[in-house]
Amino acid sequence: MEINLSSITLRPFRLSDVEDLMTYAGDEQVTLNLRWKTLTTKEEAFTFLKDVCIPHPWRRSICIDDRSIGFISVFPWSGDESHKADMGYGIAPKYWGQGIVTEVVKTAVPLVFRDLPHLLRLQAFAYSENKASQRVLEKAGFQREGLLRKYEYIKGEIIDMVVYSFLSTD
Ligand SMILES: CC(C)(COP(=O)(O)OP(=O)(O)OC[C@H]1O[C@@H](n2cnc3c(N)ncnc32)[C@H](O)[C@@H]1OP(=O)(O)O)[C@@H](O)C(=O)NCCC(=O)NCCS
Repeated sequence: MEINLSSITLRPFRLSDVEDLMTYAGDEQVTLNLRWKTLTTKEEAFTFLKDVCIPHPWRRSICIDDRSIGFISVFPWSGDESHKADMGYGIAPKYWGQGIVTEVVKTAVPLVFRDLPHLLRLQAFAYSENKASQRVLEKAGFQREGLLRKYEYIKGEIIDMVVYSFLSTD
């Protein structure tokens, strides 16, 4: 299914996204590369929307025709570290490889710096094996800063991560 990138929109999550959320947050191909636990029931998806997605400081649903096909999140640090924030994203596998997330990241970056005016640094961590995510960040203008060896405990494994950043001055 070929998607016209201009039809992609970003909006806050709603409880009515519950079925659509399951198509990616319930898919291990997607959650494998995220800290998220794979959702297995509609009830879990509803609770996740209500308790995590909707109150999140900056999480947007990636939509086609207002239906959620994925997410992009930016989590600002607090206190003395509030100059920086962590970004993550994912979409349903049937949409991979069409430039969608690259376009979404390019759209989201100025919105994030507008909505979080004290932010100086937007950072993203990709698993070293997640070449698609690294490519997205490079295409969206993030700077690769280096490889963090044996950095993250994730789903039973300690893995290497590649760190990228985009500064408010970039
Ligand atoms: C990673 C992910 C977000 C990419 O989204 P997408 O919309 O398919 O990305 P795009 O189409 O914009 O760009 C993908 C790029 O990666 C490249 N790519 C894909 N798989 C690759 C691989 N195994 N090795 C090298 N490059 C690869 C594509 O060719 C494309 O680059 P190109 O335009 O230069 O050809 C998507 O695969 C996903 O949701 N994965 C699961 C969740 C996830 O990994 N989130 C990121 C956590 S850091």
